[in-house]
Amino acid sequence: MKILVLGGGGREHTICYVLSKSVKLKKLFCIPGNGGISEIADIVDSISPTDFESVARFCKENQIDLVIPGPEEPLVKGLRDSLEKEGIKVFGPDKIGALIEGSKSFAKEIMSKAGVPTAKFEVFDEPSKAKAYIEKKGAPIVVKADGLCAGKGVFVCEKKEDAINAIEKIMEEKIFGESGNKVVIEEKLVGEEASYIVITDGYSFKALPTSQDHKRLLDNDEGPNTGGMGAYSPTPLIDEELKRKIEEKVIKPVLKALEKEGHPYLGFLYAGLMIVNKEPYVLEFNCRLGDPEAQVILPRVENDFLEIIEKALEGNLEKVKINERKEAAVCVVMASKGYPGKYEKGKKIEGLEKVAQMKDVIVFHAGTKKVNNEFYTSGGRVLGVTALDKDIPSTIEKAYKAVSLIHFEGVHYRKDIGKRAFKYLKIN
Ligand code: AMP
Ligand code: GLY
Repeated sequence: MKILVLGGGGREHTICYVLSKSVKLKKLFCIPGNGGISEIADIVDSISPTDFESVARFCKENQIDLVIPGPEEPLVKGLRDSLEKEGIKVFGPDKIGALIEGSKSFAKEIMSKAGVPTAKFEVFDEPSKAKAYIEKKGAPIVVKADGLCAGKGVFVCEKKEDAINAIEKIMEEKIFGESGNKVVIEEKLVGEEASYIVITDGYSFKALPTSQDHKRLLDNDEGPNTGGMGAYSPTPLIDEELKRKIEEKVIKPVLKALEKEGHPYLGFLYAGLMIVNKEPYVLEFNCRLGDPEAQVILPRVENDFLEIIEKALEGNLEKVKINERKEAAVCVVMASKGYPGKYEKGKKIEGLEKVAQMKDVIVFHAGTKKVNNEFYTSGGRVLGVTALDKDIPSTIEKAYKAVSLIHFEGVHYRKDIGKRAFKYLKIN
């Protein structure tokens, strides 16, 4: 097959990496890609993944059989609907299905209809009413802009004034534009977060390996929220019993509800969960793989990944058995100084050739550019260093050994990725 992957982060490098190992792959393209992806795919950075007309033209010119989008934005903007009209296949939900991520109020309403456990909530489209509700409910309380905000639209407020302030920013100052036309206000949940991602043809689904992200910038979960500073898989937080609960109480009812709406969901469905007293509550859904979660999940899948996707496209996922590697995986994100705020670009990355010698270590590129056979930083999250080994402690050690061999000016990474698992494993 000739495949086009859309996106240019660590997740997309991972998708390209597993596709490149498939016996079914004939040719791989990526728009816009990055330095690392350019080693395994033809990258085209002159087209935007949300310029559907140009993407469709590219697909026709290059006889693309399938488009696999990495990020949510093209899907939420209707990539599948647009490309299907041109006869081009897309592995992802249609515009309505993607609303599960694109509109928090839509997701909450689907969850209500389907009886999926989630924080109690109200939706508002007028700031005065939202403020009055916060005055009545008090803190702690969580305020969420309805639409896409590049991961910045959620305010977990310990004080009432902070929640009021969030309403002003979102609905009056419109710091997220149209995405702030509505807000969801919900109760704060306290527990342990985990990511549960399935691949689905809309009717049946298969769970991918479990994982846990590390969203805060600094060790011990301090500092601002980021896109994710590292991940590990599998997480001992999710045992077989909890898996069963997540599938019965969350995944199945949501897929059924979307099917009932007339939009059976195709693609990856990501449930961001808060586990409270061994019960799953949904914080959010994403219509895609997580990043950095993909960087630990996909390398742990033994199957030919393209074959799994093909089966989902045919509606034959039922017949697939996902074989999980026994080894654990840990991914440490190496970021530019200043991320998630402003950062400098163009720093030379050194030491990659040393890590290339290590067994079961893969460096996924995110914000990198290749110039004259050298790699330079070009984004906030620069690299995701993924290691695989027999258990979580030895994998952490291997990942950090690899990280210590790589350098660029101003590099920042967390020193405690994966250690959260020790709490569940009762290791000190
Ligand atoms: P979301 O994008 O909805 O997953 O929210 C981003 C982050 O905000 C989550 O990963 C949680 O850490 C936090 N969060 C969201 N909703 C809640 C909630 N109801 N209670 C506590 N924390 C939350
Ligand atoms: N790592 C969180 C996300 O991909 O949404």
